[in-house]
Amino acid sequence: MQSIIEVEKVTKTIKGRLVLKDVSLQVPAGQIYGISGPNGSGKSMLLRVICGLVIPQSGRVEVFGYRIGTEKEFPPETGALIETPGFLPGYSGMDNLLFLAMIRNQITRDEIAEVIRLVGLDPDDPRPVRVYSTGMRQRLGLAQAIMEKPKLLILDEPTNGLDRQGVADIHALLMQLNQKGVTILLTSHSTEELQSLCGKTYWMENGILQAERE
Ligand SMILES: Nc1ncnc2c1ncn2[C@@H]1O[C@H](COP(=O)(O)OP(=O)(O)OP(=O)(O)O)[C@@H](O)[C@H]1O
Ligand SMILES: [Mg+2]
Repeated sequence: MQSIIEVEKVTKTIKGRLVLKDVSLQVPAGQIYGISGPNGSGKSMLLRVICGLVIPQSGRVEVFGYRIGTEKEFPPETGALIETPGFLPGYSGMDNLLFLAMIRNQITRDEIAEVIRLVGLDPDDPRPVRVYSTGMRQRLGLAQAIMEKPKLLILDEPTNGLDRQGVADIHALLMQLNQKGVTILLTSHSTEELQSLCGKTYWMENGILQAERE
């Protein structure tokens, strides 16, 4: 099986502290893999390294066969949601996604409206993101991650802050995307959540990644 994500022996030190220790991970095409672990264990850091947002001291990261940091700054055909998404607080959800979509100019206003509905928000809601609840921001962040129909999704705690219905909706959405061939790597504090969604789960502790279950 072809690996979409290949992480080999990645080490990251911040201010003299090792936060990723010799981390290796392969995510094959069409899979959903999950990482859980305590606060500060390095989950978000690993996802940032995979997305090229943080450059590791040593090791290799490849996504779709491209070396991240040298051949590509950001992984191609990838949608990412890493920690709290930064939106322009004075603009509506729709306007925020329209601004972001202008960078690549691949999708129409109608497609954005459709994806906003898909995550359970109203594309015609005129209220600025400033007044959105945590769960609404999270949903908008997911909409942004999936709107350009990526082949790979990298999601840091995608159901964080969502109510029970929201969690169920997002799980259904992720399963549906996966059935269409989207490869997904996500983190969660709930090992239960990961076990119901993922083909393989990992445990991260003190910067060390270990496979939990196939
Ligand atoms: N910008 C930064 N400057 C200094 N240290 C950082 C920075 N970002 C993260 N760290 C440190 O890196 C380590 C890993 O943090 P990370 O955010 O990856 O943890 P996490 O597993 O995602 O935790 P959580 O479950 O709380 O989201 C922590 O010790 C954290 O303090
Ligand atoms: Mg984190």
